[in-house]
Amino acid sequence: MHLITGANGQIGSALSKALIQKYGSDNVLLSDIRPIQMDAKFVILDVLDKNAMQQVVEINKVTHIYHLAAILSAKGEANPIWAWDINMKGYLNILDVAHNYKVEKVFYPSSIAAFGSDIDLSVARQNDVRNPETVYGISKVAGEIWGKYYFDKYGLDVRSVRFPGVIGWESMPGGGTTDYAVEIYHEALKHNYYECFLDENEALPMIYMEDTIRSIIELMNAPKEKITIRTSYNLQGISFAPKDIVAAIKHKLPNFKVKYVPDFRQEIAAAWPNVLDDRQAKQDWGWNPKFDLEKITNDMFLHLKPIYEKEQC
Ligand SMILES: NC(=O)c1ccc[n+]([C@@H]2O[C@H](COP(=O)([O-])OP(=O)(O)OC[C@H]3O[C@@H](n4cnc5c(N)ncnc54)[C@H](O)[C@@H]3O)[C@@H](O)[C@H]2O)c1
Repeated sequence: MHLITGANGQIGSALSKALIQKYGSDNVLLSDIRPIQMDAKFVILDVLDKNAMQQVVEINKVTHIYHLAAILSAKGEANPIWAWDINMKGYLNILDVAHNYKVEKVFYPSSIAAFGSDIDLSVARQNDVRNPETVYGISKVAGEIWGKYYFDKYGLDVRSVRFPGVIGWESMPGGGTTDYAVEIYHEALKHNYYECFLDENEALPMIYMEDTIRSIIELMNAPKEKITIRTSYNLQGISFAPKDIVAAIKHKLPNFKVKYVPDFRQEIAAAWPNVLDDRQAKQDWGWNPKFDLEKITNDMFLHLKPIYEKEQC
């Protein structure tokens, strides 16, 4: 059984559909603290409740866990200790239950937030020093190292990537610093206007949802001997700044207007790398992103335009 925590989130809702399609609805169990809208096997599970987690894993004979439940960067800065508890204690519960119940594989998403401004931010290499400047980033670095610890000490097969900001039409983002890159498409189609909370030149690594989901499935299915990184693999999709996404949208909506009103999230973004060097992921398990900014924009419009046109009727 494949168990997803945080299945109601931005990535979780897309991963849920993909895993159900791949493994069948009987073999995928979704969980979250918020009920889902999908017609699928689902259980309410707070990752801080270790007893409940043990029961869910034991009763359902869970073999694979995709641990997506977390508090993201912007929300985490508003309440650091709460974010640390959920991100850290929640993950330690997962690792310990996975070890005790002989779960075969655990997927753990780390983030570009694992890096801080003391590296060359033009490109973060796989083993660059990780001195993050948000509680979210601190929890991701600690999580990476705990995953490696469980692999080294107990042989638990933990696999992880450092995701860039994720863009998709299926779901709304959950309080991160890269949320603008999803919101902007919705606001463009709804109001032809967007107030951007990042500076127009703030380049960050991004990845389209289809590539995101494919990376999880490919990494989880790669032969064990190919996995040489047990902290977390850098994963690159495409890097761009707000002004680039605005230009891409203007190709489709020439009257689209943007006002830049940078807030506290600009400071977070300024300490993150512009590009992730993902050569190790490419070499080890064949990572290859397929979506550039033009393809992303075309696909976002393809799916979102009919929704907003219908709403306006
Ligand atoms: N979305 C991105 O751009 C991005 C980038 C890098 C890494 N990640 C990582 O990927 C994972 C998923 O991200 P997302 O964007 O889908 O996040 P999200 O905020 O959209 O979803 C997180 C989900 O976790 C659930 N949750 C919160 N507290 C919980 C608890 N105590 N127990 C169980 N569930 C709980 C929430 O209800 C929510 O549905 C996270 O670990 C995140 O750090 C995301």
